[in-house]
Amino acid sequence: MTNRRFLFVLGSSRSEGNTELLAREAAEQLPADAEQEWISLAEHPLPDFEDLRHDSDHVRPTEGNAALLLDATLAATDIVIASPLYWYTLSAHTKRYLDHWSGWLRTPGLDFKPSLAGRTLWGVATLAHEEAVVADPLIDALHHSAAYMGMRFGGVLLGNGSKPGDVLRDTEALARAKTFFAREAPFARFPYETE
Ligand SMILES: Cc1cc2nc3c(=O)[nH]c(=O)nc-3n(C[C@H](O)[C@H](O)[C@H](O)COP(=O)(O)O)c2cc1C
Repeated sequence: MTNRRFLFVLGSSRSEGNTELLAREAAEQLPADAEQEWISLAEHPLPDFEDLRHDSDHVRPTEGNAALLLDATLAATDIVIASPLYWYTLSAHTKRYLDHWSGWLRTPGLDFKPSLAGRTLWGVATLAHEEAVVADPLIDALHHSAAYMGMRFGGVLLGNGSKPGDVLRDTEALARAKTFFAREAPFARFPYETE
């Protein structure tokens, strides 16, 4: 874990919800020498993404939440997307953050893709549904995003709950949280790619 810097991107529309609680359970196991930065997208909202990719150059944001999130993203060795399951996929806050990656990919001078390649993407998600399989679209979205970026993928830590605090009764999720960040994070590959 030497020189690791974890960025936790909180994508819930409320603070101290189940997703954040589960992410904090997992983060407690990180060694002291692993740096942590936590940013709530609800508290640091990004503007709607504007697609300028084919009209003009995107310009590096120098102030506001976009600059904060860009700098934090570039500084992280490990990016943890902590999103509740909303309509079977990522929350809108989280999706907007990832949409901004598309602008950063096209921002001259950033080298966004080569910078993130080889780093690790992780997910933490909670859902009200009992059957975890309904979260597959969220897991696939993160996995395929990691594959596109040439990143490693550590998987998604899932927990169950509806109202804040419920996830603390999901003993299986809490047990998984204990070892989540210790697992191997192989390079993500699209399903059609062979070894
Ligand atoms: C807009 C919205 C959409 C949701 N969609 C789903 C869903 O598709 N499947 C599900 O199991 N739970 C769904 N839920 C329930 C949340 O996933 C659940 O309450 C979760 O614990 C919220 O995480 P949080 O406490 O971190 O905010 C939804 C909740 C909201 C507010």
